[in-house]
Amino acid sequence: MKLVMLGAPGAGKGTQAKMIAAKYGIPHISTGDIFRANIKNGTELGEKAKQYMDQGLLVPDELTLALIMNRFAQDDCANGYVLDGFPRTIAQAEALTASLKEQGDALDYAIDVDVPDENIVERMGGRRACVNCGGTYHVLFNPPQKSGICDLCGGELSIRKDDLPETVKKRLTVYHEQTQPLIDYYNAEGILKTVDGTVDVNEVFAAITEILG
Ligand code: AP5
Ligand code: MG
Repeated sequence: MKLVMLGAPGAGKGTQAKMIAAKYGIPHISTGDIFRANIKNGTELGEKAKQYMDQGLLVPDELTLALIMNRFAQDDCANGYVLDGFPRTIAQAEALTASLKEQGDALDYAIDVDVPDENIVERMGGRRACVNCGGTYHVLFNPPQKSGICDLCGGELSIRKDDLPETVKKRLTVYHEQTQPLIDYYNAEGILKTVDGTVDVNEVFAAITEILG
């Protein structure tokens, strides 16, 4: 199964993608997580990506595409994957379609987790992410069992640099300009499914598993 998660920053793409990956036994591939791991490890790619991410801007397509194509080549992608945060531009979506087509393959679904902008800033303010494994929590809506500690690996939880209110607003603007057009793109391909992302985490997941079977 090959899936793409669509949705605004903070819509819950990462939260749902992790649950999908666990249930269906496919890898969760988040370009944002890969960039953050590179920043943490001080790689050249991380240094380049950081300049854009800290401002709420997209990392250039050529950097992102090189990274993701490399990831697809790994063995764990043989039975599919759930993509979170990629594609994010029409150029990225076209590159993905073309690369799959070359192998006689195609995506199964693009799932849009629909959340209006009003809800987003509140969500981002309360988000906490594990510095170690990327586990994601919310202080009110999805709290860890022990404050500040990841349930999954015991790592320390921290606030993402790009979750400052001004940067979140910039990310929303960039989303509407560059990423939202993908909804029409995948609708035209006949694989778009939309779920209401404003309800409880488990209710969103139930709606998604209804679609995936
Ligand atoms: P990325 O890491 O992908 O960030 P994003 O798209 O802005 O999305 P988020 O991770 O912020 O939100 P999410 O939808 O995953 O929500 P989450 O599940 O955490 O990208 C970061 C940056 O990297 C980009 O700005 C860009 O610079 C760069 N980048 C990445 N990919 C790129 C690409 N392809 N091309 C170019 N640049 C790229 O949930 C949010 C919060 O809400 C959490 O606290 C969660 O617990 C809570 N929550 C989740 N679901 C619910 C619910 N149903 N009810 C209440 N709370 C909920
Ligand atoms: Mg995410």
